[in-house]
Amino acid sequence: MEPERLQQIRERIAQVLDPDLGVPLGELGALHDLQFQDGHLALYLELIPPLPWVAQPLERACREAIAELLGDIPFHIYVRERPLSRSTSPSVLSGVQHLIAVASGKGGVGKSTIAANIAVTLARAGTTVGLLDADIYGPSAPTLFGLQGMPLHARKDEHGRVIGIPHERYGIRIASMGFVLQREQAAILRGPLLAGYFMTLVEQMDWGELDFLVFDLPPGTGDIQLTLAQKVPLSGAVLVTTPQELSLADVRRSVTMFRRVNVPVLGIVENMSYFTCPRCGHREAIFGEGGGQRLSEELNVPFLGQLPLDPLLQRSSDEGIPVVEHPAGTHLRHLFAEIVHALVRELRRQYYRAQSPRLEISL
Ligand SMILES: Nc1ncnc2c1ncn2[C@@H]1O[C@H](COP(=O)(O)OP(=O)(O)O)[C@@H](O)[C@H]1O
Ligand SMILES: [Mg+2]
Repeated sequence: MEPERLQQIRERIAQVLDPDLGVPLGELGALHDLQFQDGHLALYLELIPPLPWVAQPLERACREAIAELLGDIPFHIYVRERPLSRSTSPSVLSGVQHLIAVASGKGGVGKSTIAANIAVTLARAGTTVGLLDADIYGPSAPTLFGLQGMPLHARKDEHGRVIGIPHERYGIRIASMGFVLQREQAAILRGPLLAGYFMTLVEQMDWGELDFLVFDLPPGTGDIQLTLAQKVPLSGAVLVTTPQELSLADVRRSVTMFRRVNVPVLGIVENMSYFTCPRCGHREAIFGEGGGQRLSEELNVPFLGQLPLDPLLQRSSDEGIPVVEHPAGTHLRHLFAEIVHALVRELRRQYYRAQSPRLEISL
């Protein structure tokens, strides 16, 4: 291939936008290499992770951008992750790349249901995922995954320390306060002790290498939330609310808490937003409309999506099958896929914002 044509291709690729960030690849420093060898053109990109959601659309965009210059020359794109720098506690959960907290102001808004299904949806995209159920007062993961009454397995590491082994269901690793503590015990323990139990799940579990670890937090802004925010290098938090004003006020408090400890709020998920009549298909916003959306605008936090009030969520929980894996759950599977896509987009934007000062200096 003539050098001019290769240069033209390079320029076109540099103008292709990262679909999540809206920034040209050239400006992102994503164009790692472009080589023409043995009749093949190879493009090497280095992108802000996680990649599974962005790789395909970006590949398509690159192909389209250079289609006429390329003709029928075979073309391959190789995408690799840009390493992320971690600011705090490098030793805690060092094998986990993205640490996502799912929080809510109030209990009973569907936080655990949503955390579990977000975790399974992430895994369905081919990533390795863990779920840490930190809700001491009402651990839900054992119920949601049909693990009630299961003991926690453990082994000793090379220093003789006891290491817990997460359970595995639907391709995700699961540990719950429910495995280490009875509800009656939890009720009489005070804050600092509970926080200690929580850190056991963080530090003495064999989480291994994970792309994502999803934390299902207890409601509110208590000891566990603070311990988590201080000791665990969270990538971001997702807040769950229902459309009622009361729970919106609680979400506001949660946003303030995460901001105070510099954890980016990735967005709000509104649960039980509407009910679709199974007979006529009419969609009724039982608790009022647009509350989550308004709140997200007011707090300047992204709105990640809505979920309906749906008896299947309750039923699948009783059956111990996450709804996104339930045979009758197609519609919810799609909604969760969209929510997770929005979440990952915000995560990448967050990493970009955190990195960009450095990029500006190097330019
Ligand atoms: N969108 C929904 N439609 C119907 N039931 C739901 C929905 N979301 C959650 N639930 C049910 O509401 C109850 C509380 O949900 P849960 O996830 O445990 O809330 P939290 O963790 O916030 O306390 C559970 O029985 C759950 O099955
Ligand atoms: Mg819960």
